[in-house]
Amino acid sequence: MRVTVLKGPEIAYAEAETCLVIPVYERDFPLMSNALVNEDELILQALFDKEVFLGKTGEAYCLPRPTGPYKAVLIVGLGKKEACSAEALRRAAGVAAELFRKHRVTHVYLDASHHPEWPVTAFLEGIVLGQYDFDVYKKPEPDSPAPIKVQDLTILVSNTADGAALQQEAQLAVLICLSANGARHLANTAPNEMNPSALAAFAQGIADESGCECTILDEMQMASLGMNALLGVARGSAQPPKFIVLRYHYRDDARTIAIVGKGITFDSGGISIKPAENMHEMKYDMCGAAAVLCTMLSIVEFKPKLNVVCVVPSSENMTGDAAQRPGDIVKAYNGTTIEILNTDAEGRLVLADALAYTVDKYKPDAIVDLATLTGSVVVALGHYAAGVLGNNEALITSLCETGEKTGERLWHLPLWEEYERLIDGTHADVANIGPRGEAGVITGAAFLKRFVGDTPWAHLDIAGTAWGAKNVPYLSDKHASGFGVRLLVHWLLSQQEPS
Ligand code: BES
Ligand code: MN
Ligand code: ZN
Repeated sequence: MRVTVLKGPEIAYAEAETCLVIPVYERDFPLMSNALVNEDELILQALFDKEVFLGKTGEAYCLPRPTGPYKAVLIVGLGKKEACSAEALRRAAGVAAELFRKHRVTHVYLDASHHPEWPVTAFLEGIVLGQYDFDVYKKPEPDSPAPIKVQDLTILVSNTADGAALQQEAQLAVLICLSANGARHLANTAPNEMNPSALAAFAQGIADESGCECTILDEMQMASLGMNALLGVARGSAQPPKFIVLRYHYRDDARTIAIVGKGITFDSGGISIKPAENMHEMKYDMCGAAAVLCTMLSIVEFKPKLNVVCVVPSSENMTGDAAQRPGDIVKAYNGTTIEILNTDAEGRLVLADALAYTVDKYKPDAIVDLATLTGSVVVALGHYAAGVLGNNEALITSLCETGEKTGERLWHLPLWEEYERLIDGTHADVANIGPRGEAGVITGAAFLKRFVGDTPWAHLDIAGTAWGAKNVPYLSDKHASGFGVRLLVHWLLSQQEPS
């Protein structure tokens, strides 16, 4: 999608399927748009007077204008002016994107000229995310034309706006959302195809295109490094596990931040097998991996002033005859022995080795992990926020603030000493689960904490937000959400050295 910023009244609606879009606050009529022709202004005013359209959240009205300068006018509701935020614009854009698809709109003029207060790029985000579809496995519908997307978007701004800055910000926003869509695509892909080797190949592809460094450890190399927690999980699967490291290097003396993503490409639960209902959703158990890998798509493009190490421990969790048993004890990379009480608590096992290895090998200044770790976080927060836990308040606060801006909410949960005791091992240093029904999201994090040492660390449990978004117009509930990509990219950019 090409984005252009345009000032002043000179608008040339040359293209065929142009749609003029006017976002509207609730009951904020008459409309202010210099782009509208008089007659349309009257029609839209009538819609308001008759209460057909009031500008409420979720409302939209598309008026086709076959003979006009633009082929349609679309008004979208932003809800109450006082409550308007970037997220309101993003959601309104999601509603608009659905109508663009229906009306086969390819060119959009967005009138923001009377509203310098709008974070316009959020609207672009809503469109790029809202237009995502996943239809690679379906044969095209025989009698309907192929779906099309918006190719050109022109933002109309006031004469006093900083057009160049907005243009750059817009380009950035589009790119970041395309990275998020990349993560959604990896996650949606069927698990018979999206296995650890496929994730590794994807990472290698990023390295090949960008020139950054990619290292992929195989089973033998992992064994000689002592990554037995990860290898224990992989034992039940015919698919070989992969330990993926992708590094963007800025300068030796710059800060290094590590992002680590759980890459279980299918989680059957292993011997502690899951119920059949919804088990297919466990193809999404690599959403943490998808998020950190696709974050790197933007990072290699933007080349920020910091070093970023992206780490993905990837395996399937299956029930083959060599599968790990409940009762097994394994020794992780950092020497900690782990008593496996439930083979379904496998995410923390692969992350244990990944976190310990990352801290030891790359000595990052901070480490953030993303994982679909527990069903418990869904019980606690539903699909509206990810849980965030860690050992560093400042790190957690800065992540929460970024999440608020990007509409990827994080909620800070405690990690008090008492919780840490819940996973003390009976026959080993630590057990891989705590007492049933007690603060599962926290005991999951308490387990991970034992593998990060003193490194500032935050853990995002994204099990509730990685797919099945509820009532978010720019995200379909049938697909992965790409949660974490926009958050991580924006947060990483905020961590750069001051220039
Ligand atoms: N991948 C699951 C977590 C999960 C469950 C994500 C449901 C999304 C929806 C994870 O590996 C898991 O199975 N966790 C267990 C841990 C338990 C055995 C301590 C869980 O949450 O039930
Ligand atoms: Mn599991
Ligand atoms: Zn899992």
